[in-house]
Amino acid sequence: MLTNLHKIRQNALSSITEASSLQEVKKIRIFYLGRKGKLTGVLRGIGSLKQEERRIVGKTANEIKKEIENAISAKEKELKDKDIKREDIDITLPGRIPWIGRRHPITICGQEICNIFTQIGYSIVEGPEIETDYYNFEALNIPMYHPARDIHDTFYLEGGRLLRTHTSPVQIRVMEREKPPLKVLSCGKCYRRDSPDATHSPVFHQLEGFYVDRNVTFRQLKGTLTYFAYQFFGKNIRTKFVPSYFPFTEPSAELYVSCSVCKGRGCRVCKGTGFVEVLGCGMVHPEVFNNVGYNPKEYTGFAFGMGLERLIMLKYRIDDIRLFYENDMRFLNQFGP
Ligand code: DAH
Repeated sequence: MLTNLHKIRQNALSSITEASSLQEVKKIRIFYLGRKGKLTGVLRGIGSLKQEERRIVGKTANEIKKEIENAISAKEKELKDKDIKREDIDITLPGRIPWIGRRHPITICGQEICNIFTQIGYSIVEGPEIETDYYNFEALNIPMYHPARDIHDTFYLEGGRLLRTHTSPVQIRVMEREKPPLKVLSCGKCYRRDSPDATHSPVFHQLEGFYVDRNVTFRQLKGTLTYFAYQFFGKNIRTKFVPSYFPFTEPSAELYVSCSVCKGRGCRVCKGTGFVEVLGCGMVHPEVFNNVGYNPKEYTGFAFGMGLERLIMLKYRIDDIRLFYENDMRFLNQFGP
């Protein structure tokens, strides 16, 4: 009887070791421990044995039963763990595609606008982002009491320098260096002490252009900027010039284009007017010419300045300027290579 028990034990343990699926293990359990199982059969037959023998065989049979049960539980756990690991490695899952760097929408649209103007004879120049009070304000005829000069609006640096609040100082630097005729465009970063929100960012980009020669007229200004608006926004827009005020131009105006969101019918973006402002412009103020040593009786010119982010937002109906600076590739990837 005992040898029979040991044989059962050995066979059971070796088939458990060899088992490679949960189903197989289940079969083994039934085969040895089930109601009609091998070991169960032995235990049942114990009753017919002599008392002395019964004690020994019963004890051994119970120990072997425990041992087989433990081996089965261990095997089941091992097979379950393996199953989970196999599920972890899903070979049908596509690999992660690495993000590929692209030009930023500000770079793309900045270049697009530069191209529009270089095609009509403008040259591109750059100016410093750290400026002096003279170039940023004084030479542009911006008076001492002008709110833009306030400490709350401008980032002042040590030694009386500041971060330029607009690209207009480039006008002064170029005119100081060169003589008319001049057709110049400049694009770059500007800084203002604004708290970031949907339409304000402490860093933003402007494009500045100016044309100075003998007999430059307001009519040429209108022609040039209308041409630009059609090139950038498309032929289907309408434009209008509205009188405005800038210290460095006289007369001054703002260019409006029909709202791209509602096509001029009136909506939240255009505040119901059907038009949105896209740039400031005007005829260069005689005082500015005096400051750079040009004779205002001899030369006239027009100038214009526009916010690049604002132009892109209007063209592509983007409602939050912060998207340009958050580096979310899902946003940035939409503008081309
Ligand atoms: N500098 C102006 C600003 O930051 C924009 C501007 C308006 C530039 C009229 C110009 C101009 O050259 O003629 O708001």
